[in-house]
Amino acid sequence: MNKETKKVVIIGDGAVGSTYAYTLVTSDIADEIGIFDINKDKANADSLDLLHSLPYSAVTNKKIYAADYADCKDADIVVITANAPAANFDKGFDRLLLLKKNVSMVKGITEEVMASGFDGIFLIASNPVDVMSQIVAEVSGLPKSRVIGTGTILETARLRTILAGHFQIDPKNIHGYVLGEHGASSFTSWSTTTIASLPLMSWLDQKPVADLPSFDAMDEEVRQVGFEIFKGKGNTSFGIAGVLARITKAIFRNESRILPISAHLNGEYGEEGLYIGVPAVIDATGVRELITVPLSDEEMEKFKASAQLLRDHFNSIKD
Ligand code: 2OP
Repeated sequence: MNKETKKVVIIGDGAVGSTYAYTLVTSDIADEIGIFDINKDKANADSLDLLHSLPYSAVTNKKIYAADYADCKDADIVVITANAPAANFDKGFDRLLLLKKNVSMVKGITEEVMASGFDGIFLIASNPVDVMSQIVAEVSGLPKSRVIGTGTILETARLRTILAGHFQIDPKNIHGYVLGEHGASSFTSWSTTTIASLPLMSWLDQKPVADLPSFDAMDEEVRQVGFEIFKGKGNTSFGIAGVLARITKAIFRNESRILPISAHLNGEYGEEGLYIGVPAVIDATGVRELITVPLSDEEMEKFKASAQLLRDHFNSIKD
């Protein structure tokens, strides 16, 4: 990606799309931002409002506008954040409940984007994100390395935040991954989580933490905290926008940054033919390669169960 202008088109200008657009602007990650929404007035209003944040800011000037699908033609990255109107999560927070509502919408969006002549990288946040990423990959026909779902990067951010609170350590110094589905079957790979290169148990031997919840309880908190946010404000936006911006930056700056995203497995972890959250090296080409984390037997069982759940859901919506 050597173009002078780094161009993103965002499909879906709801809480996630607009917060992501603002994060791109304030972090100076993209030069040109097109915002598409079926409510063109909203996309136009947000574009103007974002432009007005520029004259007194420190970031470089940008082109920001309400986009049409045709604007995707020369975009480097198209980000799909569109979701059908919020699901009723009264019976529990399960992103897979959104599957039937979002599948035809995401298929339609992908077809429209591809009809523009788009040949860049898709970044997907629509839920259930692993299945949606697989749909976008199949419908677009693009190399799978160029279709990336946000996957478990958000759970991993939540894990690091929770552990940082208990251990009183900067979350950036806590290294570990939540893997699997972005959803109820995700799990923390405790066996590979470290602080200052020490496995958590060794850290705790040296520096006991008072009132530390069990690992299972913290894992459950990682899975449930999105629901807490949803109950409080009807959506989640800042966390997902932040991780979308982080992936975008890794692509535009050709960082070779390792991030736990939803990628297509081709034999890794003994699985193939599905999208699921695993650590991957992200650079200007998209997913450069996947990392196989040495999971414990119990963690591998959880990974397999999560993969099977995603496969079943994907198969349930096949024509
Ligand atoms: C989240 O976990 C709802 O998937 C979204 O914040």
